[in-house]
Amino acid sequence: MPYKLTGQKVLVTGGAGFIGSNLIDTLLESGNQVVCLDNFSTGKLENLDQAMRSEHFTLIKGDIRNFEDCAEAVEGCDYVFHQAALGSVPRSIADPMTSTDVNIGGFVKVLFAAKQAGVKRVIYAASSSTYGDHPDLPKVEHKIGKSLSPYAITKYVDELFAQNFAMVYGLETIGLRYFNVFGSRQDPNGAYAAVIPKFASQLIEKSSPKINGDGTFSRDFTYIDNVIQANIKCAEISTADLTEQLDQYYAEIKEPKPFGDTICEVLNVACGDRTNLNQLVDALKQGLSKYDAAISAVEVDYGPERPGDVPHSLASIAKSNKAVGYDPSITVEEGILKACDWYWEKLKKES
Ligand SMILES: NC(=O)c1ccc[n+]([C@@H]2O[C@H](COP(=O)([O-])OP(=O)(O)OC[C@H]3O[C@@H](n4cnc5c(N)ncnc54)[C@H](O)[C@@H]3O)[C@@H](O)[C@H]2O)c1
Repeated sequence: MPYKLTGQKVLVTGGAGFIGSNLIDTLLESGNQVVCLDNFSTGKLENLDQAMRSEHFTLIKGDIRNFEDCAEAVEGCDYVFHQAALGSVPRSIADPMTSTDVNIGGFVKVLFAAKQAGVKRVIYAASSSTYGDHPDLPKVEHKIGKSLSPYAITKYVDELFAQNFAMVYGLETIGLRYFNVFGSRQDPNGAYAAVIPKFASQLIEKSSPKINGDGTFSRDFTYIDNVIQANIKCAEISTADLTEQLDQYYAEIKEPKPFGDTICEVLNVACGDRTNLNQLVDALKQGLSKYDAAISAVEVDYGPERPGDVPHSLASIAKSNKAVGYDPSITVEEGILKACDWYWEKLKKES
């Protein structure tokens, strides 16, 4: 999709990770100058292979917990796309201190550096985990439940800081609550791998994917290209247009606009469609068995449900559509096929 955002200088924090590196490639292709700040804790240099070939790309190896690194990285930038964080609910349960330091402490430093540098807007990765135990489906942005993990708390606190920076300092912020993002460069290895890369790599090795529960739990899986679209649309829209679109949205849902004309919204980024884990495994088998027919015969290993797992997740994307024109262009099925091609090539190359 051709984007209007061009000729801008932008900072992508966490740019060596899955989402950040894909975003960087698109921003560079659209004619922007991109700075990446990453400490490579989970990110990889190989994710930046394409970016490193561009003269419009600058890599800063540094840490968002270090204010000087943030200040250096954001100097002269028009927009910040903040992706750096320690992801994974289980990781945050195993080590809540580090997740809190990075996800909250680091974010506040990015925000303050962005404010000092006079950037136009900070677009940051929030999370669907903020919905916690709220029972409603689909999830709408203004109805959240109790947080179910330290990770979820960090992402919710980030929203509060972003709103506060907008009110106190006039820094425009938009939080994107991503729902189960997947696609190329998502790490299939390690204890904290996400479900799609983990299942894909297990199927390629012809070992049984392990499902906690009976496989009927469902998620709103979101292909990476849709996430990139949401990020860039949030930067492209003018303050006046965004204000007008939000006025219309709140009028339609008959809710007061919580922050008046201050720009500090959160938007769901998802497909607006549900896929359960059994369907997911079937789709992955289908996508991978064109490379190796024996994959279609791999059986699933069912185990007990994991305590704290939310049974279903499904987003309303009405607000992101109304506010910034977000319109997911890749369906889950199409995305899974693309991801299968990528994982087959990557994992076969490594083996
Ligand atoms: N992948 C998903 O499904 C999903 C869902 C909801 C929210 N998110 C959020 O989206 C963002 C990107 O996620 P991802 O899946 O690309 O994860 P990722 O782990 O691939 O990328 C995160 C990047 O941040 C970097 N990073 C971590 N700590 C840092 C620090 N202290 N200083 C500088 N860089 C640091 C890592 O090295 C990595 O490159 C994260 O904020 C995550 O919480 C992701």
